[in-house]
Amino acid sequence: MNSSIPSDQTSRENIQAPFAARIIRENEPENLEFPFSSLNSAITPTEQFFIRSHFPVPKISPETYRLKVDGHIERPLEISYDDLLKMPSTRVTMTLECAGNSRIFLSPKVSGLQWELGAVSNAEWVGVSLSEVLNRVGVKPGTVDIILEGADSGEIKKEPNSPGKITYARSIPLAKAFEKEVILAYQMNGEPLPAAHGFPLRAIVPGWYGMASVKWVNRISVSSVPFRGYWQTLDYTYWETRNGLPIELLPVSEIEVKAEIARPGLHEVLPANSVYRMHGAAWTGESEIAKVEVSTDGGKIWSATQLLGASAKYAWRLWEFHWRTPAEPGRYTVMARATDARGRTQPMVRDAHRGGYVITHVQPILVEVRKVQGSASSESYNI
Ligand code: MTE
Repeated sequence: MNSSIPSDQTSRENIQAPFAARIIRENEPENLEFPFSSLNSAITPTEQFFIRSHFPVPKISPETYRLKVDGHIERPLEISYDDLLKMPSTRVTMTLECAGNSRIFLSPKVSGLQWELGAVSNAEWVGVSLSEVLNRVGVKPGTVDIILEGADSGEIKKEPNSPGKITYARSIPLAKAFEKEVILAYQMNGEPLPAAHGFPLRAIVPGWYGMASVKWVNRISVSSVPFRGYWQTLDYTYWETRNGLPIELLPVSEIEVKAEIARPGLHEVLPANSVYRMHGAAWTGESEIAKVEVSTDGGKIWSATQLLGASAKYAWRLWEFHWRTPAEPGRYTVMARATDARGRTQPMVRDAHRGGYVITHVQPILVEVRKVQGSASSESYNI
């Protein structure tokens, strides 16, 4: 270590990405993608963490901010930012994936932001367990849903239109809301939440797609009837099917198992007869990753990859596979697929009933293997 560099600066450098860019999917409101090919650490640096916002970022002063709790409860409550910071805290490492991640791979094209692989990121969050707050207010018997409402608002002027100006709100069922890891977070990767990620307070709902983790939460409503708000019924929904028949439109909720390949990227050129490190991440909902396999021949043969680090429920697991590339130059199709501890495996084909959400079918990536002049064939090709 260079002794002239203060230790806090070096540790900061260690978690910095090789470049701090994000990919623009929309400028206003700002919707930015994590460049997934730059994945090189389990925790996504905050400056690379993807951003998904439906409305402009609301300006909230921590001095005047209040979290209001109302509805089907014994004692309505208002809590200041300072009082939230004084409550017992819970830490959770969680992978946040937008339900529309990978939408660009759908064919025919589906409307919505055309995310590639990076509407997903992983961070360490600190906050107050939602159950702590609910215990303070005394949830009445017969409660069904806990509605989390954000301070951001606007009007959706394209189909399906909103009924005028609305706020962003989603609900979670009572049992999920009382899980200790469901928190009202005020810290992300050791720092106060950045404005774009929900300052001063956001929900973190591990195991569920990102739409449940409501940012800028300023109101919690306890409800004795199912919540049927805009983001619960007109958006972020999918068709539940029985015997091939779409029977019910349900809100998107739990994350499905998925692996993504960071490298190689589409059309990447790899040296023939060399060792190439394929790598990526895999995650799932209320379970853990059991295995990630790769195929380098278009899906005929699958080989186990090495899972890296320790398994942590709700956080993605990095994986790698050292591929001896073919001696024969040409085009090859590589794929990855994950299986979780519940035995769920990624499907090979897309289920159309999922609409524009929950895109987890295996993605083929075409790469080109070429003879590289003068390179020793056994050399590893580092990233
Ligand atoms: N909360 C509010 N208030 N407004 C929003 O637009 N977007 C949701 C969720 N929470 C949203 C929100 C969606 S769709 C996702 S994927 C995540 O926030 C994204 O969180 P991030 O921007 O911190 O990555």
